[in-house]
Amino acid sequence: MKGRYIAGIDLGSTKISLMVGRVGRGGMEIAGLVSVPSQGLRKGVVVDIDETANSVALAVRKASSESGIDIRAAYVGISGSHIKSRESYGATGIKGKEVGAADLERVIDSASALYVPLDREVLHVLPSEFIIDGQDGISKPFGMAGVRLEVKVQVLTASQAALENLECALEHSGLRPVEMVFQPLAGSMAVLREDELRQGVLLLDMGGGVTSAALFKGGALRWAGVIPVGGSNTTNDIAVGLQLPQGEAERLKLRYGLGPEAFKANLFDAGESIEARSMNGKARQVPHAELEGIIRPRTEELFELVKNEAGPQIIRHQPLCAVITGGASQMKDIAPMAERLLGLPVRAGLPERFLSKGGPFKEALRDPRNATAAGLLLYGLDAEGGAGAVSSRSFSDSVETVRQTVAEYGRALAKKFMGKVRRFEWGAHE
Ligand SMILES: Nc1ncnc2c1ncn2[C@@H]1O[C@H](COP(=O)(O)OP(=O)(O)OP(=O)(O)O)[C@@H](O)[C@H]1O
Ligand SMILES: [Mg+2]
Repeated sequence: MKGRYIAGIDLGSTKISLMVGRVGRGGMEIAGLVSVPSQGLRKGVVVDIDETANSVALAVRKASSESGIDIRAAYVGISGSHIKSRESYGATGIKGKEVGAADLERVIDSASALYVPLDREVLHVLPSEFIIDGQDGISKPFGMAGVRLEVKVQVLTASQAALENLECALEHSGLRPVEMVFQPLAGSMAVLREDELRQGVLLLDMGGGVTSAALFKGGALRWAGVIPVGGSNTTNDIAVGLQLPQGEAERLKLRYGLGPEAFKANLFDAGESIEARSMNGKARQVPHAELEGIIRPRTEELFELVKNEAGPQIIRHQPLCAVITGGASQMKDIAPMAERLLGLPVRAGLPERFLSKGGPFKEALRDPRNATAAGLLLYGLDAEGGAGAVSSRSFSDSVETVRQTVAEYGRALAKKFMGKVRRFEWGAHE
């Protein structure tokens, strides 16, 4: 098929989603979306190269045949608790002149020149704010005049071994990575609203294997972290605790979740039970209280882990809300618990920037499991210069400019300074 396409592949711990977008003058529309069970990945990290390669190859074959587009390259969403963020800072003189591209390059260069241990690699260098002659909070420094230009950046690093295993699996699969993208960074582009990005928001991508967090304020990333606990832990606990097969444990989790409705019987009659199929295939009665007694503390523990990691950043940056996305965010009645434990208003995040457009994939976009894949398309669109007005339509100038700065300077410089180039040659999709 003719046209310009962007593909994004979300390498999740439970499923691999591959989404293809067609870039048109009016915006990007989804041209294909498939999801296959993920094999070979644990907690966001490749543990079996061949199995991962096979899962990726299967997703590519399926998406190519369903969409009629020959998919050869994709933006790759990655996560895992090996990914860490840290702040860095740079400064340069601008001699009383207007800030130009060369000055920006120089100042981000200086912020990027930080020590990175040999076993780690830089994934992203994201400018969060510029400061000119002591005036902070500047997101759009181009053309401003001053003497001293400073920049704060967030540097995201990843384990070199994890990246290499992933590259190896992708190479075996035949899919060329255009760029590795931290999953919630991609997700933020599809899920978060402009005012949230500006005023402060904690994004939680609650997956099966990991919970990936990213805090944004002033239109830029301020902190990121990954907690190696996800929905699969809850399912495992149910399976072990109630001696049920995984599939049955998963079914009970999805059906009852934390819903007060589901457990209401419990308030009046502790003996109320639900039917479950046990390991030997026989039906068994499980008391509500037992199921709730597993799901509730496990989910509370997850939010407590998030709070431990993100707490100091929440105090520092004072986000106004949290947005939860990813499959495990669909747990029945999870929002009140999240609000109580995070101390922030919480809303559910769907890939809204696509939802409004309708089309054949509208239903799939109501599923928060597809937030990362959708975000990868928008990330790719931005990285490749956007599609005219499309990429800036619902984002303010300042947010857009920071993103452009990221696209034009951050990535290029990260590679220039850290040696290894993570941006791969872009191959035609046709
Ligand atoms: N309705 C639901 N209630 C509770 N949990 C759910 C529901 N639907 C899906 N999940 C859980 O969501 C998890 C999968 O989410 P998702 O597809 O976002 O993960 P992933 O991207 O494969 O993994 P990760 O991001 O951790 O690497 C599973 O643990 C599943 O049990
Ligand atoms: Mg995921």
